[in-house]
Order: sequence, then structure tokens, then C-alpha cells
Amino acid sequence: MDQVPQNIINDQGNNTIFMVWNFKNDMDVTDAFARVCKLVINLNHSNDTRFPDGGVCCIMGIGYDAWHRLKLPVPLPKELENFAPIAGQKHTAVSTKGDLHFHIKGNDISICYDMTAALSSYLEPVASCVEEVHGFRYWDGRSILGFVDGTENPRGEKQRSYFGLVGDNDAAYTGGSYLFVQKYMHDLTAFKALPQEEQEKVFGRYKYSDIEMPDDVKPANAHSALANVGDDFKIIRDNMPFGNMATNEMGTYFIAYASTFSTVKKMLTNMFVGSPAGNYDRLLDFSTPVTGTLFFVPTTTFLNNVTSGDS
Ligand code: HEM
Repeated sequence: MDQVPQNIINDQGNNTIFMVWNFKNDMDVTDAFARVCKLVINLNHSNDTRFPDGGVCCIMGIGYDAWHRLKLPVPLPKELENFAPIAGQKHTAVSTKGDLHFHIKGNDISICYDMTAALSSYLEPVASCVEEVHGFRYWDGRSILGFVDGTENPRGEKQRSYFGLVGDNDAAYTGGSYLFVQKYMHDLTAFKALPQEEQEKVFGRYKYSDIEMPDDVKPANAHSALANVGDDFKIIRDNMPFGNMATNEMGTYFIAYASTFSTVKKMLTNMFVGSPAGNYDRLLDFSTPVTGTLFFVPTTTFLNNVTSGDS
């Protein structure tokens, strides 16, 4: 592949800052965007030099409306669209606006902060930050609900590239990735009130061992039963928990990279509408998405072309 992907197939750092920015109305944002592309490349090259043990990077995604506003190449990536809400009988995957998404990772929060500050100084004149979530690694990789999150992710460079990066079927965008995010708020009080065996049934896994329940024991409405849409359809999840005692907001920032958005959509439909319809994901009784946005993460080569006016 001669297109160099952004750094999406590596494992996560211990600290993460997620940011969503929306462009201000009635402004020419193309020059500012070109400067941001250059900054993202600069930050990542610098991180490679300063922190060669990895875990530090900044990944930028672009939303459908922004793609048009920035006059980026057409045709667009085949599956890039404004996310349409998915409504089940009881729970809805809402859709919210996002022009640019930044996924900033590092083992040390200091470097995450510095990258966030640098990006913000470039963006503030032309855009507003509408979402900023600080996620942290909770114990041995658990969500704030207490269950290990990420175990069934694709492993190894080959698998992660296959499921995480666009292939040759969309030649202009090979090496890019569909990025889908949702900020979930949890009803921790209600979840913690469940006996441990009931909590385990919500996920279909045992809490402390993180071992999957046998098929004849796992309930049909368990999260891992409905989110699993087959071995040929996987995504790369990089979720992070967050928590704020002052506002009593505990949650999960769900973030997934995929070679095709239709796989994510299928998982969401199974979870929210149910399979069969009505058999929805029990995790949603304790988790409410307050955002939901699709972005496309083009390659570093693409970002470089934007900075030189070749996109
Ligand atoms: C409240 C938000 C969520 C939380 C706390 C959460 C947590 C978890 C946990 C603890 C597991 C089991 C361990 C693992 O394999 O990672 C899991 C599995 C999984 N989740 Fe989620 N998840 C959330 C939302 C989602 C969403 C929105 C999707 C898809 C759009 C999704 C897709 C998956 C998949 C594909 C698996 C692996 C299933 C398997 O093959 O066994 N999750 N999740």
C-alpha cells in the first residue's frame, strides 16, 4: 500500500482526549484546515521521535458536511454520510453533528494536553469545540461498569488492517477508515444494584475472569450476543471510560474504526432494534448515547496532499 494510513491500527495509550469541532458559519475554513492537516502530521512525526515506545498519536476524522464545505475530492468515500438515527422500540442511537474529530492518545496525559492545546489554537478562530471527553484506562482495561472492554478486538497487524482500513474496493480511499463515535452515559446506580450474576448476563461474560459465557448459558439479549455479527465482520474498538463526580456523569466514549461502515450499522441495528426485532441489547437499559457521529479518517498521504493543495 503506497498510501500511509493514520495511526489507527495500533493499540491504545493509557490516556485519551476526544474532541469534536464544528466549523463556524459564513467563514472560509479551507486555509485553516490545511494548517491543521500540517499540524497533525507534524505532531505525529514529532511523537514518533520523542516517544519511540509508542502509545502517542493524534488521529483526525472528517464528517460528511465538512467534506463538502472543505471541497475535498469527489466522489466521497463510498459509505461516508451523515449518520441517520437508529430507533428501536425503547432506545435510539441518536445522530449529532461533527465536522472534525480528534482522537488523541498517550501514556502520559501531559502530551495529550499539549496536543489538544496546539490543535485548539489553530482551530479556535474558525471552529467551536462542541465535545471534549477525557478517557482513562480503568484498572486492567475495564469499562466504568467493571467489565473488561476490548477482548474480542481483532489482533495483529494483518487482521487489524483488514478490518480497520478501507481496501482496494474504494481505490481512491484505500488505507482510510470509517470512524464512528458515541458518547454513552451510564446509570451506574442501577447497574451496580444488579447482583453480579445479572451484570454478567448483560455482557455475556464473567466479570473477574473476563471469560465468555458458553452459548447455552449466554442470554440472547446479552451485549456480546447482539454485537457479534460474525467472524467476517469485525471492527476495531478503542473505547475509554470517563467519570466526573461533580456532575455525576459516568460513561463510555465508544469509538470504532472500520473498513466498512455497514458493519458498524449492522451492530447498531442489532443492539437498538434487536435481533429478532424487540430483542434489543440489555446494556442499553443502563447506557444512553447522547452523541452519534460518523467521520472518515483519510490517510496521512491525503492530509499531506491537502497541505500542498493537491487534494
Ligand atoms: C455503552 C457502550 C459500550 C460498552 C460499555 C461496551 C462494552 C463491551 C464489553 C465489556 C464487551 C466484551 C469484551 C470485548 O470483547 O470487548 C464488548 C464487546 C463488543 N462490543 Fe461493546 N460496548 C459498548 C458499545 C458497543 C457498540 C455501540 C458496539 C457496536 C456498534 C459494540 C460492539 C462490540 C463488539 C463487536 C463486541 C465483541 C462481541 C464478541 O465478538 O463477543 N459495543 N463491548
